[in-house]
Amino acid sequence: MREEFESYLSLFDLEAEQLEFPLLDVGAGDGDFVQYCRQVLGHADTFGLDISSEEIPHAGAVIIGDALSMPFENDSFKMVVAKNLVTVLITKGDKAGDLVDEMLRALQKGGRLIFDFKTEQSINEWEKEYRHLFPEEPFDEEEIREEVKRAHTFAVFLEKLKETVSSISFPKEGVVHIIK
Ligand SMILES: C[S@@+](CC[C@H](N)C(=O)[O-])C[C@H]1O[C@@H](n2cnc3c(N)ncnc32)[C@H](O)[C@@H]1O
Repeated sequence: MREEFESYLSLFDLEAEQLEFPLLDVGAGDGDFVQYCRQVLGHADTFGLDISSEEIPHAGAVIIGDALSMPFENDSFKMVVAKNLVTVLITKGDKAGDLVDEMLRALQKGGRLIFDFKTEQSINEWEKEYRHLFPEEPFDEEEIREEVKRAHTFAVFLEKLKETVSSISFPKEGVVHIIK
């Protein structure tokens, strides 16, 4: 549980003291991050949401639902995080921008939304460094071009979002902090 918790903080460039509650983890997977916040940090107002009911050991902490249409009222959370979810949606061609709009809907004014996403640079770097480790998934130029195009569309979406939120910052490549 601690390892998973620390991997969130490290990816998002966050200190544990900067977490704010109520907090929602979208695409929470096995819910270890949520459970750590609840059990170790003592924040019972931490929730997870995941579309899959498989492999979720922490019943109650993770709610089953679709991130594109979340079962939460507007302005419910002070912090919303999504680790390795927008990247998955960009790869699959789903609507990453719609997901961000939905997460912002559930966030309170002044609250912080944090997630990682794919950039053209990170896609190209991954292809160069890791593609050979997956010989069963050979290089498909057309597919990669499409993925880069989707990453570009998403970057344009983020640029436009600057007009409607209080602030957007990129503490590192492929990670964004948005204040609503
Ligand atoms: C790559 S895993 C990341 C899990 C965890 N956040 C982590 O970083 O270890 C992506 C998770 O997102 C969930 N997911 C994918 N599409 C979703 C959707 N539309 N709504 C909610 N969860 C979704 C998957 O079921 C999976 O658990």
